[in-house]
Amino acid sequence: MIDSGWAEQVRRLARERDAVILAHNYQLPEIQDVAHHTGDSLALSRIAAESDASTIVFCGVHFMAETAKILSPDKTVLIPDAAAGCSLADSITADQLRAWKAEHPGAVVVSYVNTTAEVKAETDICCTSSNAVDVVASVPADREVLFCPDQFLGAHVKRRTGRTNMHIWAGECHVHAGINGDQLAERVAEVPGAELYIHPECGCATSALYLAGEGVVPAEKVKVLSTGDMATEARHSSATAVLVATEVGMLHQLRRAAPGVDFQPVNERASCRYMKMITPEKLLRSLREGTDEVDVPADVADRARAAVRRMIEIGQPGTGE
Ligand code: 13P
Ligand code: SF4
Repeated sequence: MIDSGWAEQVRRLARERDAVILAHNYQLPEIQDVAHHTGDSLALSRIAAESDASTIVFCGVHFMAETAKILSPDKTVLIPDAAAGCSLADSITADQLRAWKAEHPGAVVVSYVNTTAEVKAETDICCTSSNAVDVVASVPADREVLFCPDQFLGAHVKRRTGRTNMHIWAGECHVHAGINGDQLAERVAEVPGAELYIHPECGCATSALYLAGEGVVPAEKVKVLSTGDMATEARHSSATAVLVATEVGMLHQLRRAAPGVDFQPVNERASCRYMKMITPEKLLRSLREGTDEVDVPADVADRARAAVRRMIEIGQPGTGE
C-alpha cells in the first residue's frame, strides 16, 4: 500500500535527480499517474531522445530502457526492476536473426522495438505497432523484407501493405497471443453495438477483421491500433461501449481519456507480469538509490542506433502520448 505522500516524494526526488519519469500504458495506474509522460513505445522513445533531463527513469520493460540508452548514451537510464523482461523480445536472438539473414542475402530487416539491443544491432529499421505499416512501406518494393519477431503484427502489416516479398518470424507475446478469436466472438455477442479496439499483437486481430467481413460488427467499428492511438481515438469517441483487446493496463488511460465510454477488456486476465514488476515501492527506490541502471555495450549501441533513429523519424510525430 502506498501512502498519501508517495507521489510528492517521487516528484521531489525526480527533481533532485534531474530525472524525467516515463511510463508505458501497461503500467500500474499509480505509476501512469505519477509519471511525467505516459504513452506508447514510439512516443516514449521520442520523448526519451528529446528530453533535456540527465536521467531517464523508464517505467516499462527492459527493451524500452535499452532503446532509450541506445538513443542517449550519455544519459543515465534507470528501470525500477531490471528483471522486467518481455516474452516477445525473447522470441528471437541475435544468432537466430544472423542465420535468417544468411538465408536471404540483400533482404531488409525490420524489427519490432520489442527486441534486445543485440537484435537491433542486426536490424536495418526498427518499428513499433504505431508505425510498422509506414516503416515497411518505406522499403523499396523490389527488396525482400524480413520482419521479426511478432507474427500477428507481421500479418497485419502484410495485409495493410499488400506486400508479397515479406517473411515473418513466428514469435509472439504470450499476453496478446492469449487474446483469441473465440473470446472476441463471445464478448462481441455479450456487448452488442460495441466498438472494437484491437492491438495488432493480438491473436484475435484476424478474427476481428473476419467478424467485420461477415457483417457481425460493422467494419467502421473495428479499429486496429497501437496503445497510444487507442488513447487518441478514445478522446474523440462517440461510442457507448468499446471492447479492448490488449493488456489490461490500457484501460486506465482509456477511462481517463473518455470517462463517459464503457471500456471493457476482451480478456480480463490479459495482464503482463513483466510490466507489473514496476511497483510504487521500486520506483521510489530507483529514484533514491539510482537502481537499476541500464547499460548497452558501446559497440552494440553504435550498431543499433541508426535502426532506432529511423524508427523515431517514420510515422506521425506528436502522437501516442
Ligand atoms: P505499443 O504501446 O507501442 O502499442 O506497444 C505495446 C506493447 O506490447 C509494448 O510492450
Ligand atoms: Fe512484452 Fe507482451 Fe509484456 Fe508487451 S505485453 S512487454 S509484448 S510480454
